[in-house]
Amino acid sequence: MLNKEVYDELVAKFEKQYGSKPEIVSYAPGRIEVLGNHTDYNEGFVFSAAIQYGTFFSVSPRADREVRLTAGDLMKEVSYTIDKVEKRDTDTWQNYVNGTFACLFPEGTGKLAHGFNAMFLGNVPLGAGLSSSAALEMATGKALCKLYGLELDTVTLAKAGQKAEHDYAGCPCGLLDQLSSLAGKEGQLVKSDFRSNTYENVPLGDGVVFMMVTSPAKHALVDGAYASRRKACEDAAAYFKTVLRHPVTHLRDVSMAEWVLYSKGLDKTTAARAVHPIGEDERVLAGAALLEKGDVSAFGAFMYDSHESSRNWFENSCEELDAIVDAAKEIPEVLGARLSGGGFGGSCVLLVKPEAADKIAETINAKYEAKYGNRCKISVIKASEGAHVI
Ligand code: GLA
Repeated sequence: MLNKEVYDELVAKFEKQYGSKPEIVSYAPGRIEVLGNHTDYNEGFVFSAAIQYGTFFSVSPRADREVRLTAGDLMKEVSYTIDKVEKRDTDTWQNYVNGTFACLFPEGTGKLAHGFNAMFLGNVPLGAGLSSSAALEMATGKALCKLYGLELDTVTLAKAGQKAEHDYAGCPCGLLDQLSSLAGKEGQLVKSDFRSNTYENVPLGDGVVFMMVTSPAKHALVDGAYASRRKACEDAAAYFKTVLRHPVTHLRDVSMAEWVLYSKGLDKTTAARAVHPIGEDERVLAGAALLEKGDVSAFGAFMYDSHESSRNWFENSCEELDAIVDAAKEIPEVLGARLSGGGFGGSCVLLVKPEAADKIAETINAKYEAKYGNRCKISVIKASEGAHVI
């Protein structure tokens, strides 16, 4: 569904449910991660982009202290009072909204004067590694800031969504998804530094676009695999702190040369996990220089390297994503391909020549179907504008 259709459907459903049109509607996009995998919580670097799919959040104030919240796709409503905004075990989709709402007001939502009626609806494919949850959090954040007259800078708003993921949804994620959803610009990448929590928008260059290939393979970050990777990175950083003579707080502080010299002191698995974000940081920084020179082919080669590192070291790929990247490698008009986001299923992002998009989609799907009996969802990605109130 196109964004305009999603918007119209949401406004119509809201009016039917609550008796009048919403006073505020916000929008926040999903994201692709282009280069820099599992670097955000290691205080490293990432190239990402906001995509043309997102979530709309509509809201009107109520006279009383109640919140009525409806998932527009399911047409399921939950309710609670603003004096008690909680994590819930039923209708768990509400936790992204409840969590963001609570985290926007660390002093407590009980001080607010009134509640609200709200409904959300989006078109980010769920469970595809495209951050549908961050889109919902940031759409919630934008709309509720407007509703309550709260002015937050980009990083503070992103952190409210991240805290909602940690405390309400159970995923110890970094800040990448929320920041990308807020900081996207049409036709541009977002290059982030997660030590200073700063970012810049960088043009991708002419003659190339991204494609997203979403495999039907499951992607779930709350089942422990993401958390275990994060823990291994933190353990590795703690070790490097003891053997290196300069300050180390995160893997951002460890170079590839230092990993080569000192990783023997780590157990094999922890050493393998650590080399991934270290290599990714180097690829993002070198990739930035390549984009400045307009060398998109060499940038694409780094994307392939990134996937190999996921496949061999971080082990956050899976057979299906490997099959997609392997198929992509044989197509001359694909310049690079890698898994995007947490991993363990989900989507691959491809850097391609736009005129070959149809051929690329057909070739990859033919191979995928021959192997697995089903097809991937494949679309061209437009780097898009970040979250905003409409
Ligand atoms: C998920 C997390 C992000 C980031 C990526 C991997 O999308 O939510 O914070 O760690 O995985 O780079």
